[in-house]
Parts: sequence; structure tokens; C-alpha cells
Amino acid sequence: MEEIKQLILNERENIIKISVSSPFSKNEEFNKITIRPINIKNKPCFQAERFKNNQVFHLNMSNTEFSAFLENIFKKYAQICVFKSGVTVTFAISKNGNIKTSESKNNLQIKQKNTENNRQKEYIFNEGENIPPLVDLGVFTSDFKIVKSKYDKFKQINRFIEIVNDAFVNDTKESITILDFGCGKSYLTFIIYYYFREIKKKNVKIIGYDLKKDVVENCNKIAEKYGYDNLKFVVSDVTKDMLYREPIDMVISLHACDTATDFALNYAIQKNVKYIFSVPCCQHEINKSIKKGGDFDILLKHGLIKERMSALLTDSIRAGILEDMGYSVDVLEFVDFSHSPKNIMLRAKKTKKESDKNRSQIKELQERYNFTQTLYDLTK
Ligand SMILES: C[S@@+](CC[C@H](N)C(=O)[O-])C[C@H]1O[C@@H](n2cnc3c(N)ncnc32)[C@H](O)[C@@H]1O
Repeated sequence: MEEIKQLILNERENIIKISVSSPFSKNEEFNKITIRPINIKNKPCFQAERFKNNQVFHLNMSNTEFSAFLENIFKKYAQICVFKSGVTVTFAISKNGNIKTSESKNNLQIKQKNTENNRQKEYIFNEGENIPPLVDLGVFTSDFKIVKSKYDKFKQINRFIEIVNDAFVNDTKESITILDFGCGKSYLTFIIYYYFREIKKKNVKIIGYDLKKDVVENCNKIAEKYGYDNLKFVVSDVTKDMLYREPIDMVISLHACDTATDFALNYAIQKNVKYIFSVPCCQHEINKSIKKGGDFDILLKHGLIKERMSALLTDSIRAGILEDMGYSVDVLEFVDFSHSPKNIMLRAKKTKKESDKNRSQIKELQERYNFTQTLYDLTK
């Protein structure tokens, strides 16, 4: 057994995948296991994909944890295949521990590693990483390459996670409950769940809300397939329906349409939610309602400028209200404008007491320019 272990640990860099099959017992929990060497945040580790009925369970392990995991595998499975570039080494293990080794050729090739001259931007999640829900959602191909048309979305979810990751560097809470407003196809929701569960090793619970029944059903099926028991999707209109009543740690929204963002922020404010990460989407409300009224009339003369100015005013009001409600707020560039023009993120953390520092200023503007803004109205 030591021979197999050393081959795997010493040749980690040359291994594409390891396939474990033929359990000795019919009652073995997992009938098949696939293992891949991966890097998480530049740290080498192994990821096991364990198959049970129609479900897949993931486990990320350090080298030491993996060594113990292998010992257990040797006792329970009769076949281990190690796939390297061009050659597959098969170990047939008998119940009494005898091993037969054989080699065969294959056509597999290991991906080229990044070198100093060939370095791409390292995200928290990179192309080639084994994140199966992203295959089901159509972001990755079956061999974990980014689908071309999903490149911008992949970039967005990675940036979102990067910002969330920065906020959680010193957070030691073991459990976290998150609501996602307007989750849509839920690329972000799945990756946030994966991030907290597999990388931060927290007990994470997420509920994603969306209007679309078919999309919600599909997301629930994928969550079930991977045994993501605490990831649920619910058909809801977040502007009307009663949402989750228990304490929440974090609210997220990525391009939730128009005023759905205001309802997400208002929910977080009313429930005293500690963390908010919100990237607003199209914003029609102020643009539709604003009238000329004073010093800034020149900004309302041309449609395009009026539209952009209204969007900026909307996010400035949202940030101002969050500050008044006791949040420390950062307004960040989410992704390059060339990747998405909807590129402002409001990052907020509950840290201080409430005030009405900004509200009086917003009220003055609102009365003078006669616009409607939902978060302002909801928090009156
Ligand atoms: C542009 S998509 C973004 C989806 C996802 N967050 C993402 O970034 O991929 C906006 C989603 O918000 C949902 N939505 C819009 N208004 C909503 C509302 N009032 N309640 C719940 N969902 C809403 C839409 O159905 C749509 O799926």
C-alpha cells in the first residue's frame, strides 16, 4: 500500500486524476470516487468526488488529510487507477492486501502549468478546477474549461467572491445564513455555497429567491444532485412576499432588477443583517420620475446623461441610507466597465449606531427634483 501512496504523493504534479472503484462491500457508502490534485488559493490539495446513487459529494483535503483518506480507501476498494499524461497505472487490490500492478497507454495530457512568463490572473476559482455545479449550470464544460459565452459571468462571480473573501478574513463564526435576492440561474449562489462550505469549512445555509419557477426548480435539482442540503431556492417576489424570518448574517444581490435591489437592502436593514454585498442592475425609477428643479438641471437635458446621472443618484441614495442605518459602506468598482456597465458594488457592514445625517440631504433633493426612490420610501 505504501508503494501506491508514495506514487500518488510524490507524483502529484504529474497526476491528472485517480479513479477508485469496486468496493469490497455491497453496502459501501460510495460506489465510486474520483480524486484530482487541485490548488485552492495557491495551496496544493486534493479533491475527492464521491458518488452515491445519483448524488455527488465533494471533499477537499490537505496532503496530510489525503494520506489518511488513502489508508481508508485501501481497506475498502479493489481497484485504483492513476491517470498520468500518456499512461494509466492500475492497482488491483485483493481483500487480503495483495496488489497487482499493470500499466496501459492513454491519450490524456496534463494541463500546462502557469509559469512566470505565462501567468494568468489567479482568481479564487480558476478554469480547470473541479467545481461540478458550474458544469451543470453551463459555466464550465465537462472538462472544467470556461464556456466562452460565460466568461464575463465567470469573471463577475469570481470578483464577487474575492470581495466577500476579503470581508471574511477575520470572521470566525462557524455558521452563516445567507439570502440571495433575484438569484436567477444562481451561478453566484452555487459558488458562494461552495466557497463557504468547501473552502471556509463553515456550516452554510443559503436561500435564493427568484420570480422564475422553472429556473428555481432547476437550481433545486442541481443542489439535490450534489447533496447541498442547506442550499434551497424558492419562487418569490421579493418586493411583496414574506421572506425568511430567522436571523440572517448576509444578504447578497447580483443584478437583481430595478427596485428588487432596494427590497434586498431594506430587508437587510430591517433584520439587522451584518453583511450586505449588492451589485445593482438597471435603475428606472429616478430616471422616470425626476423633474427639473434647480442647480443640476443641466444634467437632465440629454437622455443618456440623465439616465446615467439617475443611476448614480440612486446608488448614492442607497449608500447614504445604509450609512444612516448604521452600516459602514464602500462603493466599489465591481468589474471593468468593458465587462459590464452595471459595475458598482455596495459593500456594507453593520458597525455603528443609526443617524439621519444623509436622510435630510436626500429629502431636500427629493423635494426639489420630485423623484421617487424605493429604499428612501421604505425606510421612512
Ligand atoms: C439579471 S438577473 C440576475 C440573476 C443572478 N443574480 C445573476 O447575477 O446571474 C435578475 C434576476 O432577478 C429576478 N427578479 C427580478 N425581480 C424580482 C423580484 N421582484 N423578486 C424576485 N426575483 C426577481 C429575475 O427573475 C432575474 O432572474
